[in-house]
Amino acid sequence: MKIIGLALFCSIFSIIQLAQGQLVTYGEFKNASIWSGFPTPSMKKYTYFESNLNQTLIMSKEEAAMALAQFLYESDGLRAKREYACEVDNCAGQYTTPWCDIDGEHYYGRGYIQLTWCYNYLAASRDLYGADWLIWDPDVVGRDDSVAWDTAFWFWRVNVHFQPGVQEGMFGASTRAINGANECTGEFNAVAQKRFRIYSTVRKAFGLEGEGDERGCYN
Ligand SMILES: *[C@@H]1O[C@H](CO)[C@@H](O)[C@H](O)[C@H]1NC(C)=O
Ligand SMILES: *[C@@H]1O[C@H](CO)[C@@H](O)[C@H](O)[C@H]1NC(C)=O
Repeated sequence: MKIIGLALFCSIFSIIQLAQGQLVTYGEFKNASIWSGFPTPSMKKYTYFESNLNQTLIMSKEEAAMALAQFLYESDGLRAKREYACEVDNCAGQYTTPWCDIDGEHYYGRGYIQLTWCYNYLAASRDLYGADWLIWDPDVVGRDDSVAWDTAFWFWRVNVHFQPGVQEGMFGASTRAINGANECTGEFNAVAQKRFRIYSTVRKAFGLEGEGDERGCYN
């Protein structure tokens, strides 16, 4: 009886999800993270992810898998909202843009795509919130989960989504858009390959066929 009740509840839940046009379910999102070797992400994280998909023009499950794979890699499984290497000294002097920087603030990587450089904080801030807020308080990207998601999807929409190959499912093209100068020139292929392995796992968790198209970065 209980099992039938649960099954009924689950199928009603799935129908509701379909009716709402959900691209990815919480179960798929959770498995994507766990199977990639990361902790179970909260329902709240999933809700941010799912509600952002629409606003970012991501209409296919494949592109949603590409984005989640990159976010998982960039944020160490949705945990690191601040660049680990900058914990001690804020990476002072490392990410400077004189025309943009506000005295005393530091623009190292924060949020689920590790938004970096003052000019990116500025562009994201204006685009998302219509104000320069984020350059005056860049740390809010690390502090506030909603801003961490907003900036990650903003970066995807502006810098990744329209890159040649991305909407054709070439995962390497998304890596090129995010960190191509460092990872697609030969020297750091191991990192780009790690991103691709996570992508293959996310695909499996999302119920997509095959390991995915690796091309667009180093091949
Ligand atoms: C996404 O957009 C479609 C079409 O505009 C809409 O029907 C759907 O409810 C939206 N889904 C979510 C999760 O917001
Ligand atoms: C998630 O993984 C578990 C265990 O591997 C599996 O039983 C479950 O069906 C998966 N969920 C989805 C939505 O695929």
